[in-house]
Amino acid sequence: MKPIRTAIFGTGFMGRVHLEAVRRVESVDAAAIAGRNAEATRRLGAGFAVPLLTNDYRDVLRDPTIDAVHICTPNAQHFSMSKDALLAGKHVICEKPLTTTVAEAEELTSIAARQGVRNCVCHNLRYYPMVQQMRRLREAGDLGEILVVQGTYSQDWLLYDTDWNWRVDSTAGGPSRCMADIGSHWFDMAEHITGLRMTTLCADLQTFHATRKQPKHSVETFANKLLGPEDYIETPVDTEDFGAVVFRMGARTRGCVTASQVSAGRKNRLSIEIYGTRSSVAWDQQRPDELWAGHRDDGNQVFVKDPSLLKPAARSYADLPGGHSEGYDDTFKQVFRRFYASIGTPGAAPEYPQFVDGLRQLKILNAVLQSHRTHAWVDVPAFETSK
Ligand SMILES: NC(=O)c1ccc[n+]([C@@H]2O[C@H](COP(=O)([O-])OP(=O)(O)OC[C@H]3O[C@@H](n4cnc5c(N)ncnc54)[C@H](O)[C@@H]3O)[C@@H](O)[C@H]2O)c1
Repeated sequence: MKPIRTAIFGTGFMGRVHLEAVRRVESVDAAAIAGRNAEATRRLGAGFAVPLLTNDYRDVLRDPTIDAVHICTPNAQHFSMSKDALLAGKHVICEKPLTTTVAEAEELTSIAARQGVRNCVCHNLRYYPMVQQMRRLREAGDLGEILVVQGTYSQDWLLYDTDWNWRVDSTAGGPSRCMADIGSHWFDMAEHITGLRMTTLCADLQTFHATRKQPKHSVETFANKLLGPEDYIETPVDTEDFGAVVFRMGARTRGCVTASQVSAGRKNRLSIEIYGTRSSVAWDQQRPDELWAGHRDDGNQVFVKDPSLLKPAARSYADLPGGHSEGYDDTFKQVFRRFYASIGTPGAAPEYPQFVDGLRQLKILNAVLQSHRTHAWVDVPAFETSK
């Protein structure tokens, strides 16, 4: 079979992660990189022997031999890059959040449907083996009726006012920062595992630093810790450092979540706890191979990932034998493998989050911002997403 030729837009944190993961997928060639920074693009491309390197992503879109693109640039660029790529007939994987507004996400969703190309929004965290195991335990009825869903996504990399990233600035990241950047991963995971949808919510957001010290030179994600304290500009901040959301999933299920980028010592602590009428499960991204199962009338358990012990439908998300950990990088491989397999199989149902799921997150984020602004409960509009 002819390999699928793909391109990466962006050479920062995600650009490299996507490129490395693409290299692990059968029958896919990394054929091009488009990056704003010429030297970073050259370095990344040379290291991976990628033939087409350019500063203008349109060069890639004009190339008829390129089948697909990965959009790994700051959020505000997702809309125009995705739209141009769809209209050029490319299959598109776009990083989350899909766009910065609901209207843009709606437009992309309808263009993608019209163009008949494959589209994916990168909610990769669904694809840890133990997250899939929680989903399949719920489907099998092992948890009973879901009563309570709770958790957090906590980081500390924006704790100090000297911490800066393009995400802080709403023109580059969108009107929500913490909730869009990491809260959206949690919301997506909660709905994916439970099969339920958030129906109404009440949110409180907080920006602890009214201003931050913005470095005079551009800084890529997580690299600002390496800078000295010199050469900053005091810049007003219009995005939140923290958010708390109380929500309902239908008539009976209740939940709450916090997301924070200012929690000292928490690096990427996504934790999710699901309490059902029969049993409970809890999982922490920083210990990805372990799943806690709680029981009222029996001893609690900690399962360690082992493909042979997973529910059959969760098994294909674990490639390595028990005892060999599968982590963050592997989740991208799992998404991309399924995405590229679907390109080669017209008509096959997609087994990955699509633009319509990205649109759903934008609607949730919109409700979060509105609820915070108005101090009121806000309904999340219902509509069809993938499972
Ligand atoms: N799925 C995940 O787990 C995950 C994790 C981190 C980030 N993300 C998402 O990935 C995206 C990128 O984030 P990041 O952390 O890699 O940021 P980053 O700052 O590390 O990298 C962004 C890159 O985009 C490049 N860029 C900017 N404008 C460009 C243009 N016009 N053409 C080409 N390249 C351009 C920058 O030079 C930089 O290399 C964001 O949307 C973010 O939300 C997803």
